[in-house]
Amino acid sequence: MTRKIDIFDTTLRDGEQSPGASMNTEEKLVIARELLRLNVDIIEAGFPISSPGDFESVRRIAELAGDAATVCALTRAVEKDIDSAADALRYAKRPRIHTGIGVSPSHMRDKLRITEDECVERAVKCVSYAKKFVEDVQFYAEDAGRSDFAFLARVIEAVIAAGATVVNIPDTTGYSLPEDFGARIKYLMDHVKGIEDVTVSVHCHNDLGMATALSLAGVRNGATQIECTINGLGERAGNTAMEEVVMAMRMHGAELDAHTDINTREFIKASRLVSSITGMNVQANKAIVGANAFAHSSGIHQDGVLKKRDTYEIIDPAEVGVGASQIVLTARSGHAALKHRLEELGYVYEGDELDRIYTAFLDVADKKKEVYDEDLEALVNESDREL
Ligand code: KIV
Ligand code: ZN
Repeated sequence: MTRKIDIFDTTLRDGEQSPGASMNTEEKLVIARELLRLNVDIIEAGFPISSPGDFESVRRIAELAGDAATVCALTRAVEKDIDSAADALRYAKRPRIHTGIGVSPSHMRDKLRITEDECVERAVKCVSYAKKFVEDVQFYAEDAGRSDFAFLARVIEAVIAAGATVVNIPDTTGYSLPEDFGARIKYLMDHVKGIEDVTVSVHCHNDLGMATALSLAGVRNGATQIECTINGLGERAGNTAMEEVVMAMRMHGAELDAHTDINTREFIKASRLVSSITGMNVQANKAIVGANAFAHSSGIHQDGVLKKRDTYEIIDPAEVGVGASQIVLTARSGHAALKHRLEELGYVYEGDELDRIYTAFLDVADKKKEVYDEDLEALVNESDREL
């Protein structure tokens, strides 16, 4: 049996930080219901101190989730944030407070203006304070991806001693290379006392387009929780996309020694729901959930897929909630795809007749991005007239 990797969804917190993607409480509840259908392990519902609306969202999602998922609220390393999070989570069956502080030289020097010793002291203080309210306290070491290895280990060891149950190692700026980020997680696994007793989480941003690779490098090296969002929504270039990491673990579970309990058949529904609520479109070539993710347009590929789907598809579209693969007719399509689509429409063409209609088809296809069924009907009518 492979390791169970917890899926921590932060669509409603980090995802909502995408410029233009803000959501009201009712919209967040609709998405939270979908997250429960996906069977995520943890829902990060919001940042309660940030606004009365977000406080209310966290409170209502905590009630909604019951014991079906852990509900998590974000705070800074500030007591009044933690008070507010504890209050919003009052009725949660499985509450988690997520508190933390910047640990990189850039964050300590230029943002917080504190020394390393002060950083450790504040980290320990916020975890100890959160522990007064809930048993499950997650600590984030913000900008861990650009921090000093030994200092990061020192902070993490101190917060574990203070009672943190989960330690989150974010690549906040999406700066790392996968091998280096993996080495960072391994360093912590090898050097931090008590780390074997807590959950190690990774939270990777996509500034260099590598959030999925970074998260998987973390898992390979000992992390057992991934923080992610639907469609990869999140600050700037976004977070790790849930659908990508989950399907990667499904494809490579044995190598990664990893599996999740996610109901992957909900992915398309979840993707469309989040896109319609936030107004953030999904690019057509987005992995797993993009409109073209299971569409084939060149003749060579179409011929292969029509003979056997897995010649050009690594995932059965049904597994992620897509009805079927799509054969898109374009000027790059070949005889096999045209014949196949015509047969689906009820017309059988073979030999010379097929060659003739294929030539006419290319004429149309060269003038259009895609040839639709109504174009084919017109071609069939024309070829009937010529006979
Ligand atoms: O990117 C980040 O570091 C975060 C933390 C608040 C976890 O979003
Ligand atoms: Zn983040």
